[in-house]
Amino acid sequence: MARSIFADEATATPLVAASILSADFGALALDARRAIDAGADALHIDVMDGHFVPNLSMGPVVCSALRDHMPDVSQDVHLMISNPMDRIEQFAKAGVHHLTVHVEVLDDPRAAAGAIHDLGCTAGIACNPATDVAQMLDVIDAFDMALVMSVVPGFSGQAFMPEVLEKTRVLRDAMGPGGHIQMDGGVAPATAAACRAAGCTVLVSASALFGSDDMPGVVNTLRGG
Ligand code: DX5
Ligand code: ZN
Repeated sequence: MARSIFADEATATPLVAASILSADFGALALDARRAIDAGADALHIDVMDGHFVPNLSMGPVVCSALRDHMPDVSQDVHLMISNPMDRIEQFAKAGVHHLTVHVEVLDDPRAAAGAIHDLGCTAGIACNPATDVAQMLDVIDAFDMALVMSVVPGFSGQAFMPEVLEKTRVLRDAMGPGGHIQMDGGVAPATAAACRAAGCTVLVSASALFGSDDMPGVVNTLRGG
């Protein structure tokens, strides 16, 4: 059975999380399996409510279906929703391994981390490009992972925003070498080296990965191989 890819400390080899937002939704399990067979370490599942972000995507039924088809695969769920604490239990019951919530919508980030841990999942905290990293620094010790958005969330296929690299370096200094930092948005072979150099240990990819006819090559390049 799979476990969270954030349960262990980060190592020198970056992890790759395949964002299924760019997968073929009509053949989702097959396309997700293709990414895992290509070397991706987990599925990154982007949940959007049409309110926190201007798009709708998927919910817990998709997670439980993927879990049934792929019980060996770790699910990293990114909640881009306005009321995440109302939904975490549903996702945990669907069998996901990790839940990331956005700092912009949390009244009490430490309590959020505790509630996610109580459900048996690892916990991540995310910030949008415009959000001050100081909001993350105060609470990051309560979480297993920090997610830095490198696009305005809502859609795959957008251009990487290099200005978030500075925020990433600040988080890396604060978290020490073993903490996980995930970069999400516009991560591709051309931008991955800068992410790794800034201290990212987890690279999320949707369009660069699912849009390639050489998925193993993309995974390898993202890792720095
Ligand atoms: C954006 C999502 C990302 C997105 C990444 O709102 O959080 O995970 O799917 O897509 P790419 O890799 O195409 O930028
Ligand atoms: Zn995401």
